Order: sequence, then C-alpha cells, then structure tokens
Amino acid sequence: MEAALRERLASLSLEEKIRLLTGADFWSLHPEPAIGLRRLVVSDGPAGVRGERWDERDASANVPSPTALAASWDEARVERIGRLLAAEARRKGVDVLLAPTVNLHRSPYGGRHFECFSEDPLLTARIGTAYVRGLQAGGVAATVKHFVANDSETDRWNVDAQVDERALRERYLAAFEPVVREAGVWAVMAAYNSVNGTTATEHPMLKAVLKDEWGFDGVVMSDWYAARSTEPAANAGLDLVMPGPGGLWGERLVAAVRAGRVAEAAVDDKVLRLLRLAARVGALDGVDPAAPPARPWPDAEVAAELRASAAAGFVLVRNAAVDGAPVLPLDRPALRRVAVLGPNAEAARTLGGGSATVFPPYTISPLEGLRAALGPGVRVDHGRGVRSTDRLPVAPLSLLRRPDRGEGVEVRFLAADGTVRGRERRSGGAFTWLSSFGPELPMGEVAAVEVHTLLRVPETGTWRLGGSGLGRLRLTVAGRMAFEVATELPPGADPVEAMMRPPQAWAAVELRAGEEVPVALRYRPRDLGGFGETEVAVVTFQLNLARQTPDAEELERAVALAAEADVAVVVVGTTEEVESEGYDRDSLALPGRQDELVGRVAAVNPRTVVVVNSGAPVLLPWADQVPAVLVAWFPGQEFGNALADVLCGDREPGGRLPTVWPAAEHGHLPSTRPVGGRLVYDESVHLGNSAYDRAGTRPAFPFGHGLGYTTWEYLDATAPPRLEPDGRAVVAVRVRNRGTRPGREVVQVYASRPGSTVERPARWLAGFAAVTADPGQEVTVEVPVAGRALAHWDPGARAWAVEPGRYQLAVGPSYGDRRRTVRVTVK
Ligand code: BGC
Repeated sequence: MEAALRERLASLSLEEKIRLLTGADFWSLHPEPAIGLRRLVVSDGPAGVRGERWDERDASANVPSPTALAASWDEARVERIGRLLAAEARRKGVDVLLAPTVNLHRSPYGGRHFECFSEDPLLTARIGTAYVRGLQAGGVAATVKHFVANDSETDRWNVDAQVDERALRERYLAAFEPVVREAGVWAVMAAYNSVNGTTATEHPMLKAVLKDEWGFDGVVMSDWYAARSTEPAANAGLDLVMPGPGGLWGERLVAAVRAGRVAEAAVDDKVLRLLRLAARVGALDGVDPAAPPARPWPDAEVAAELRASAAAGFVLVRNAAVDGAPVLPLDRPALRRVAVLGPNAEAARTLGGGSATVFPPYTISPLEGLRAALGPGVRVDHGRGVRSTDRLPVAPLSLLRRPDRGEGVEVRFLAADGTVRGRERRSGGAFTWLSSFGPELPMGEVAAVEVHTLLRVPETGTWRLGGSGLGRLRLTVAGRMAFEVATELPPGADPVEAMMRPPQAWAAVELRAGEEVPVALRYRPRDLGGFGETEVAVVTFQLNLARQTPDAEELERAVALAAEADVAVVVVGTTEEVESEGYDRDSLALPGRQDELVGRVAAVNPRTVVVVNSGAPVLLPWADQVPAVLVAWFPGQEFGNALADVLCGDREPGGRLPTVWPAAEHGHLPSTRPVGGRLVYDESVHLGNSAYDRAGTRPAFPFGHGLGYTTWEYLDATAPPRLEPDGRAVVAVRVRNRGTRPGREVVQVYASRPGSTVERPARWLAGFAAVTADPGQEVTVEVPVAGRALAHWDPGARAWAVEPGRYQLAVGPSYGDRRRTVRVTVK
C-alpha cells in the first residue's frame, strides 16, 4: 500500500498537497479526483454518529455516554458498540468518527466529564482500545482525543495545563498510549489547551512522543479552530487543520515551504498520512480498505444492543433491605401501584451537551419503560415533583402542526428586505445550521429565520411560550406580538454555550385545551463570536414551551402519590445543559429542589428507589435515607427499557463506578479554574480515589464499587512470587457466587508499594477481569497484571522504571473493599 500512496503523492504539486491539509468545510476533507481520492466525511462522536447535520433530520443511534460504557468494565461489549458505531457511520456516509475521548476524570466539575471514560488510565485505555478496535474493524477511523491534558472547559481555548512530567506520563498520556500502540488508532485530535506553556497543536509531544516513540502512523488533526499558526504547527507535527476552508495554512504554508521555513518533506509526510487514512477507510481508488465496510444493523438489533448496554453500565451503589430483603429487584407479583417521580422520569436525559450531541430516532423515558414493563395490572402514577432546570424546554413535537397541518413546524429564511429565500419543514423545535442554510443558501444572504407553527396544548391554563437564541427574538401568538427582545450571553461565554444554553425569553400565555393557535417566532441571529481568531458560522435557536404550574403544588402531588404507592421510583439528575462541553459545573449538587423531593418522598415511602440520571457524579446527601440508589448515567436512547429490566430483575445492574463518587463539594477535589491563564495540576499523580486516601477522607462511594443481584465470596488469590519488569503476572482469584441468582463480578487488583522511594498514589488499579457464575458455583478468574502497571516514569532518565522489590496486590470488588492480598517481587 505504501508504494501506491507514494506514487499518488508524487503526482501532486505543492499547492495541491497543501490544499488537502485543511478541511473543505466543517465536516469534510477535500477530494482530489486526479489521484482517486474522494471526499472524506468526519463526524462527532462519541455517543453516536451525528453526521453532517446538527438536527433531527438525520437521526443517529444514541449509545450510552462514555462514563456509562466504562462503567460496564466490559471490553467485549464496548467493542460491539464500536462495531455498531461503524455501521452507523457507514449508513450516514461518515469515514472518520471524532471519538473516543480518553481525557481523564480529573475533576467531577469538568464539563465534559460525561464524555470521558474514567479517572483511571488503565480502565480508560482498555475501554478506549476496545471502542477503537470495534470501530476500525468496521472500516471507520477512530480519532482519539483530545491530546492532551484537556480536562477542563473554563477558558478552554487558551488555558495552560501545568502538569509535571510524571503525572503527564503515568496518567494523562498513559490513557492514550495503548490506544495508539495496541489498537493502532488511525487519527488523533490535538487539543485546544496548552501543556506546560505550548499550545497542543504545536507541542513537541506530537512528534517526540506520539509519532516517534509510540509509532503513530495516522493523522494528527487539530481540534476545531485549535490550529494557531502556520510554521510552528506544521513543523511540530500537526497534519490537518480543521475545520476549513479558511485557517492559517493554505497559501501561507505554501509560502513558508517556498521560503524554506517548513521542509517540503514535512508536507509530504502529512499528505502521506492523510492518504493512508483515506486508504484505510476505502476513500482511495484502487487501494483496498483496511477492513470491509460495516453493514447496517437492523433496528431491532440496535435496540437490543443499546438496551443491554445501558443496563450493563447501571451502577447499583446501594441496595438495603426493607422487611428483611433488599428492595431491588422489585417484588413484581406484589406490586399494585408504583409512583414514578422526579424531573427526569418523563424527560429522559440520554446524553450530555456540546459536540457529543446526537439526535436519536426515539428515546424511552423511565416512565415509558416502566409502564411498558409493568403492564396494565400495575397502576403507574407520574409526578414531576420539582424541576431540574429553570430553563424552558424545547416545545414538544406532539403539540406542533405546520400551517399545512403536517406534524412539526415550517422554517422560513428571510432576506434583509423580508423576502422568503427558502423554507424547511422540520420535526422539532430546536434548530442549528453550521456554515450555511443549505447548498444554495449562504448564511450571509439571510437576515432572519422564522418558525411558524399551529400550537395545540393538552390542558387549559397558563403556559410559558418563548424562544432561545443569541440576537433578537420576536414572538407572535395568534397574530399578536407577545414580545420582541434582544438577548445577551454572560460575558466571556464560550460559543458552545450559546448553542447549549442560549439566552431565553418567554411570555405567559393563556391557552385552551385542543384549540389551535398560530405561533411565529422570528430570530435575528447575532454573531456568536469566534473560536480563537476565526468567526464561527453557526445559527442556533429554539422554540420553547412549558406548562406553568406552581412548584409547590407539583411537589405536594408527587409526595401524595409516593405515599399511596407500593414503591416510589424517583428519577433525579442533570440535563445536557448542565453537563456540557463549553463550560464546567460550579456545583455538584443536583440542580433545583431535587434533594428536597427525595427527602420528602423517602419520608412517606420506605420503598424509595432513587435513579440518578447524570453523566458525572452529583452529591447525594440523602443516600443513607433511601434503601436503593441506582446510577444510570446518560444511558442512551433505550434508557427506560433498560431501567425497567434492571428494576424488575430481568437483568442485573452490571456497572461498577469508573470514577470515585465524592461526598462533598470542593475540599481536595482538583480545581478547574485557571489562575492567570494557568491551571496547575498540583495533585500530580494523586487523582481520583487515591486522593481521598492521601487526604484521609472517605468518598461517598469508592472507585470500582457497584452491587449486582448476587453476592460474592473471595476465597483466595495467588500470584507467582516474581515479576519481570517487562513481563506479566497472572493473579488467580477464586470466587464463589453466594447468592441465588447467576451474576457477573468484576474482580479488581489494586497495587501499592509501601516504603516506595518515589511518590506514588496510595494504591492504583493494576488489572481487572470479569467472571460469571451460577448460584453456589466456585470459579477462578485470572487477572493479568503487567510489569508496566507497577512502573513509574523516571524524568531524569526520560524512561519507564520499575523499582525493584516487593509490591502488594490487593484483590476485591472495589478500591474500598479489598478482600485478599498477594505480594510480588520485581527484580
Ligand atoms: C470539540 C471536539 C469536537 C469538535 C467538532 C470541538 O469543539 O472539542 O471534541 O470533535 O468540536 O465538533
């Protein structure tokens, strides 16, 4: 293949080569028909494949978010999800998926926490490797991102992450290394931030570590608008500037090469990498792709996989006994009445915000899932209780009719003189266009966008009707103007914030059940500002609607329903506006009065099951006042069905925490707030659970924790006495299923080195393996521990080193529950 690539390269002029090194637009790369190179399409990632559109017209299978995938600790499952994503990519004409994200959970405040796998580099790398293998086996490139130390959103374009070399190597780079070396990922995305003073797209690590040391032979692309220079970036090892067509390469790079400031050989290397990528995904005529293209999956198989995968990531953190038996699984034959409560019960939150957004073909809410599973014999009542957000939701499609009576809305694009330049029929109330309004309609030709609909509400009363968007909003209801306002973003807000939580305006309007009311919302967009130095062509706004009900009344109603039910299921959580790219959280508390709701419900119903629907940890101050707490994460479109399976006991909750669950705000949690542009990683290698050991405090729930529906006895553990630094030891662990159901246990091995001469985490994950067993069955599971898992980076020698001597390997079901210990000696 390499010879064929070189041949094609040789036929290109300098200008032609350099043209290929900047994107053609937001989501695609330039074709070059003369050498048989077709257009390549890239797309986010990681919870589905969005495709080239940012709306409901091109629906995508919504897989569980990365935290949920990692919580499965199940590489085979994640590899299958990778295969499904490859099939999705192929179906949508996508060649390169912008995923997975293997940045670590440095701090639970990080806005993109939900989008990353874990606090731990070993778990992250193993899950990330499985994801990439599955995807690339389907002939679609993975893009592992964001290289590197891209762990917070505050000031994300410019923040300088100050990370010491050991933390960088042992934690942050360690998450990438196996994805490059073992999974052979085909693309890497260089981050926005700087690392120790140099911006990531110009960082010497791109060459020295990624390409030279790890042997990466694919494409390094910039994060969107992260390329800041011509020569420094080109010389440092960035291969592709995204998006295009503008940016700082093009003619400037041609001039730099002509002037000898960038070697033509460097350009050739970039183009070769690009051609290699194209060849691998089957975009280069006459060169066989690396894998046969994935075939589409039938809808039923997609649903079944997503349902099982969501359940496999659910973490049951608490399951106390009520009347002598654990409250979960529910005693189905005894159920007559169930109250399904909380703000996230009816509005399933299946994913987080920002570029991870996809538009699923459907979502199953907890309420729908439970209703379907419990059937007509069980009365299921629903009450929201409280809100998880003060923001108005997007108007639900079921209440909207187009002027021609089809379901949905009509969008009109207006020129400055008011003439209609184009129309769209849309099935939703949220709108985003990138680059243009379509092939024939450049953004510059449109002064305002209008949405027209006939609204029909199910209940008579006061409703809040409004719009969201940065610019001017004008709402008319039944021909009368309700408001016209100019909106603003908070100072310093990221452009993604304008997409995820655009400023809102609304009016209270009286509406009668079943009556059709014409509504028009006119939006005059204002520039969202730039990403770096580049203006971003994004137009985004929403039509919003909600019933105006007093919270106090809703809360009382929910509590009354709980009091009358056999079981109360309270679904609390965040939203994709709370957890998003573009900004960090400033509190870990559940938004709104959700804690109060749980407290009030628990006080009237001893069988209260709380489901936590968030992508990252939230504080659960009432955890020991309720018998059961199930962490569901952002679990993808099959949420409600998977939840019903687990609550009813048709499946075990399969997950184990991939990140420690904090008990309180701040304390010793790493900050995401830069000071003077610098974010100092002063916790160094002490991330996640080990930081609690160090501080002598206890988290709410330890890393690795999670209960199934059976219990396990750890009978013994053995390991060979010696381990070679570059070898592998197998820790054999004998466990017995002590319960009455078959189950799956994730056996975890934690290393420690008492008396070490180098600073180390108190203990760290060195290996894990899962095992299944029937009731009463005894099985031995072999957990491989690599010598490298005991190594530290020696900054003086710039190499890995393993301190000779004894290491303890503790075996158990979590960081906080270690049942057996073996010792190994490294010579
Ligand atoms: C994000 C990337 C994403 C890209 C394209 C950036 O803002 O950081 O993760 O792939 O946009 O959407």
